[in-house]
Amino acid sequence: MSTALLILVTIASVISVMAAIIWILKLRRQLSENTRNAAQLAPTLRQLETERDIAIAARDKTNEILASVIDGIVALDFNKNVILLNKAAQELTGYSETEIQGRPIDRMIRLFSEQEEILPKTYCQGSFNKPVKVVGKEGKQTKVNLMTTQAEGSVQTNLGCILILHDLSKEEELEQMKLDFVSMASHELKTPLTSIIGYLSVFLDEAGNKLPKENLDLLDKAFVSAKQLQTLIQNLLNVNKIERERLDVEVEPINLNDNFGKAIEDLQNQAKLKNISLNFSRDDTLPKVLADPVRIGEVINNLVANAINYTSAGGKITVYMKASPNEVTTTVEDTGMGISQEAIPHLFSKFFRVSNSMQKGNKGTGLGLYISKSIIQKLNGKIWVESEVGKGSKFHFSLPVAIQDTSSLDRNKFVSEAIQTGALNY
Ligand SMILES: Nc1ncnc2c1ncn2[C@@H]1O[C@H](COP(=O)(O)OP(=O)(O)O)[C@@H](O)[C@H]1O
Ligand SMILES: [Mg+2]
Repeated sequence: MSTALLILVTIASVISVMAAIIWILKLRRQLSENTRNAAQLAPTLRQLETERDIAIAARDKTNEILASVIDGIVALDFNKNVILLNKAAQELTGYSETEIQGRPIDRMIRLFSEQEEILPKTYCQGSFNKPVKVVGKEGKQTKVNLMTTQAEGSVQTNLGCILILHDLSKEEELEQMKLDFVSMASHELKTPLTSIIGYLSVFLDEAGNKLPKENLDLLDKAFVSAKQLQTLIQNLLNVNKIERERLDVEVEPINLNDNFGKAIEDLQNQAKLKNISLNFSRDDTLPKVLADPVRIGEVINNLVANAINYTSAGGKITVYMKASPNEVTTTVEDTGMGISQEAIPHLFSKFFRVSNSMQKGNKGTGLGLYISKSIIQKLNGKIWVESEVGKGSKFHFSLPVAIQDTSSLDRNKFVSEAIQTGALNY
């Protein structure tokens, strides 16, 4: 019995030893298999780590680039929630990225174009490029130029629209300083120049005919140059006023014959020095027009000065008027170099000069026609041009006729006030 028990115990021990050996063997096999697998996985793991490092470096680089861009950049997802706000955009809006990330843009940053709020569905549709007012954290306001582009985002990137905010406040400050400087300098130049012109004209009137011809010619040239300088300074002052939206007009019923007669008389010397004939056709049947006598003098001065400038010696300039029931149209016609059809649409823009006229050495600033158009528009008139290269140009402008009947004074006062306030549109 005890032998059988012993055998049984032995067998059990053998079995368990055998089982242990089998288990150890199995474990060893497993271990060696794992080691082999681990050895196989190692390069894949290393590759994954390298790729992760490259991706992190690329992300950091992109973030650094975005942070160093001076314009604000805001990226939105398909639902118009903010996913990215670079450093400049944080400064412009007052928000940190964590405060705004994942939130709907229109609840955080509001954009206004001319007092009217514009929503993401408008500015994220197509491409948008306009100056707007940004209202950010705690009502922080900044004027920016907003440009948007629709991102070609995939579902994975969930990138819907990108906003680029270009801060305009510093530019506006600089622009203001420039305007202040030009205004101050022009005023300072204007006063002594007015004295020079005054003394010269008194001297020419009183002593001109007693002088030898050569001396008189020199004085005439000095007078013409001083007058040109005066026009230039007046143009600078006017542009300044237009930019500040402070170009005022004081309208009254005026007789264009008297007004233009005087302005053209002043330009006769300039035409004579260039051997150009300058003719003015008076029309005594002409009705009075509603205009500002000083400003309309500036317009005719600019147009006739251009005609003299851009016409060669021996040419001819004629100024005439034509009335219709509601308006009087004035024309300055020359036999000069003419203007190409491509240049005509740009002619009344600020600083625009036709390149061939510059090649011919004509000096100018490209402001005269821009100012003339602004003045004529303020007076509820129209200005336009007909021209052909090599044949000459006709500059026309029309002005509203002053109402003439028994109660004309009151009505004219009413109309002129309405023009000044912009309430009346012809
Ligand atoms: N009568 C004209 N004949 C030909 N070209 C003209 C005439 N008037 C204006 N222009 C063209 O239009 C441009 C703009 O005129 P303006 O605004 O008076 O500027 P500026 O005379 O200072 O150049 C001129 O530079 C010239 O090229
Ligand atoms: Mg000019």
